[in-house]
Amino acid sequence: MDRRYFLHFSVLTAGYLFTGCEERGTTDKKKPQKSPEAGSTLEKISVQEEKVFEKVIPFTQKLKIPDEINFSKVDKALFSAQKSKVNLFSDAKTDVLTFQGDLPNPTIRISKGGTFNLDFTNNLADPTIIHWHGLIVPEEMDGHPKDAISTNQSKHYHYKVEQNAGTYWYHTHPHGRTGEEIYHGLSGLYIIEDKEEDYLNLPKDEFEVPLVIQDRRFDKKRQLLYKNPAFLPDNNGVIGDVILVNATPIPFHEVKTGKYRLRILNGSSVRTYKLAFDTIEQFLLIGTDAGLLEEPVSVESVVLSVAERVDIIVDFKDKQVGDKVILKTLGFKDGNNFGLNPDYPGFDAVMDIMQFHITENFKDTSVLPKKLVSIPRMKESEAVKTRRITMEVISGGIWTLDKKPYDMHRIDQRVKLGSTEIWELKNSIHMAHPFHIHGVRFQVLDRDGKMAFPTDKGWKDTVIVMPNEMVRIIVHFTIPGFFVYHCHILEHEDHAMMANFLVE
Ligand code: C2O
Ligand code: CU
Ligand code: CU
Repeated sequence: MDRRYFLHFSVLTAGYLFTGCEERGTTDKKKPQKSPEAGSTLEKISVQEEKVFEKVIPFTQKLKIPDEINFSKVDKALFSAQKSKVNLFSDAKTDVLTFQGDLPNPTIRISKGGTFNLDFTNNLADPTIIHWHGLIVPEEMDGHPKDAISTNQSKHYHYKVEQNAGTYWYHTHPHGRTGEEIYHGLSGLYIIEDKEEDYLNLPKDEFEVPLVIQDRRFDKKRQLLYKNPAFLPDNNGVIGDVILVNATPIPFHEVKTGKYRLRILNGSSVRTYKLAFDTIEQFLLIGTDAGLLEEPVSVESVVLSVAERVDIIVDFKDKQVGDKVILKTLGFKDGNNFGLNPDYPGFDAVMDIMQFHITENFKDTSVLPKKLVSIPRMKESEAVKTRRITMEVISGGIWTLDKKPYDMHRIDQRVKLGSTEIWELKNSIHMAHPFHIHGVRFQVLDRDGKMAFPTDKGWKDTVIVMPNEMVRIIVHFTIPGFFVYHCHILEHEDHAMMANFLVE
């Protein structure tokens, strides 16, 4: 780490240390005071020197569209986790981690019934493993942290995709380093297609745009800054001031006056977005994490916590050539009463994500179907067991599930193969947590809080649990094996808000 960066943060850290870790759950009202030096010239100079944000001119870089690895065209793909230097900014090389030498990493596209076949080599200094988020695959293929492979070792992933169309993703999952690795680049999209979706004639090719949204911090040399481990708020989650979309800082994308399908993934470390367009009031939510909704739902904004995906249709038909439309995040105050790094905009900040430039007239004659797919509702009466999982901070400021810091080998829950269960996810902390389970998809039954989320209507593998709220989900366990469930705030799952369940 750059020395000046460290100095800068050590000044700001002073105020936080006094609050102590154990009070982390109640910091909303007693927001710690910055030390007097915080506003001094020293800080101002260092902020200016270290932060590149002021120099990022929004909407000047063209949105990068990831290459695709399409398993209906290729039999096999090669990935190796490696250090690379890439042009996130057009005028500088940034040190990152990639799977094939550049960012964004390729999007995987595969049809239901297709075979996934990939050789993975770890060229990093530490053990790592790839997880296919949302995929329901055998334990050995899932990428459990216990299966991390050492430096220079390879792993062969080979499995059949048996689940329905949806926008999934992949990322590395080593115990304790997932945050750092994803932050530096090790994630990508994973799209499953199926016949049912084909019949719907949704916008495709240039009218289908994947958007992976990730906030980051850069120093003035355009290098990524990850957390300062001595700075408590960074351990609560790393927020940044520069939003990358497909590894492009605050980009623009040229569109025509028609309907676009945007597949959006929140691949950030901690930030929850409340997505909206500045001059388009309504758009259609057509899908969630693990598939399409029964019917499109018209919304003005949609909340997207870490690891969640939304599939939306936005229509530029009322726009003129030359118009510009900004995709932004509105303030999302409800999930953030917590001590995140005050040097960077919080969840409640309104931030620009990207801009659409309308460059061509297009007569879009396509009609979006009123009915998309059917989602058979799982019945509470089918559940053979109800478990409660609590999200808590224990002494020492450690994030946990059920007060137990993660142990890679401990079995925390035993589940009967083929059974259906209700999980009550109880958040006892004043901060929203995105809760994720491997190897399943689930449905949200209800939440006892005030918020209602249109995404609760669809198939989910990650669900936001608001502060002090309890969310009840219903899950059917279809494959045997040893899997994890965890908070998907990357710094929480790393320290140590994760647990294992065994399906047998
Ligand atoms: Cu995105 Cu353990 O998963
Ligand atoms: Cu996962
Ligand atoms: Cu969490």
